[in-house]
Amino acid sequence: FSYRQSIFSINSLPFDDEQRGLNEQIIIHFSHVVAENTPKGIAAEKFKALVEEKSGGKVVVQIYPNGMLFNDENELEALRDNKVQIIAPTISKLTNSLPNWQVLDLPFIIENNEQLKKVLNGETSDSLLQELEKINIKGLTFWNNGFKQIASTSPVIGVEDFNGMRIRMMSSDILDDQFKLLGAKPIATSFGDVYSGIKNNIVDAQENTISNIYSKQFHTMENHITLSNHGVLAYAVMMNEDFWNSLDTDTQKIITDSFEEMQDWQFERAEQFNEENLSYLKENSAVHIYELDEPIKNEWKEKLKTIYTQYEKNVNGHYLSDLLKELNE
Ligand code: LMR
Repeated sequence: FSYRQSIFSINSLPFDDEQRGLNEQIIIHFSHVVAENTPKGIAAEKFKALVEEKSGGKVVVQIYPNGMLFNDENELEALRDNKVQIIAPTISKLTNSLPNWQVLDLPFIIENNEQLKKVLNGETSDSLLQELEKINIKGLTFWNNGFKQIASTSPVIGVEDFNGMRIRMMSSDILDDQFKLLGAKPIATSFGDVYSGIKNNIVDAQENTISNIYSKQFHTMENHITLSNHGVLAYAVMMNEDFWNSLDTDTQKIITDSFEEMQDWQFERAEQFNEENLSYLKENSAVHIYELDEPIKNEWKEKLKTIYTQYEKNVNGHYLSDLLKELNE
């Protein structure tokens, strides 16, 4: 607790003084909610190393993982208030502010890593990232954490297994619709509350990537894991807009070059993390892993199919057609 307190007191210093101190050092505070040994955790470290090296130490990146400073409920506000300069939330968490982003949360829209890479580096994603300007935020890039699976306290294989199941999800209308269509009871909570939510029997299941499940040890309580790959989990890396505008063009270039340089690496490491963590889970005899065969997967898809028309009705439909076109090119 005292460690936490001391971090808060560092951060209660006026950032301007700290950022532009005597030696003109620029400090970027980067807050995120997951563990360090995850695709986002190591990407933040890589970004720090690249920026510090390229700037010869002029720019310093301080990383606060595990929601130690801010969590899902307040990190966006903290970014806008310049209490931190970079956050990298999951795209779903932006859908309340930017409903068009829901397109990337449509179930089964992206089916493999190759497609995921293409989409997150493609034009549709780029225009989605530009939409951050509408809420005065500088979008920097998308990072990857692969596909979401279902982790639960009892097996979830056929669609009927969802019946009445209390499923933790990120706060997002499209994810809410998804679980309601499957017959479950979705409960939106902050990532930081997932562990206690399972422990205190508030939820029975969640959708998440293998790396998030493994790094937070959720499988010790939700020991049934269904490899459904039903949705993707990607991160929008974003910066406080005024802070970005205050940087000289050389520093801005160092930042954008660093992201560009590490993009392929980040995608590969995300795949590796999820594969490696899955192999550890497979070795654990207390964990039961299920694959979905095609007929069962088709039953899930059938239950979920109205979500696409729902999306087109509620949201700016051209993103869906653009994305489908991009996937088929
Ligand atoms: C979640 O809330 O489950 C994820 O968004 C956490 C993360 O940042 O990967």
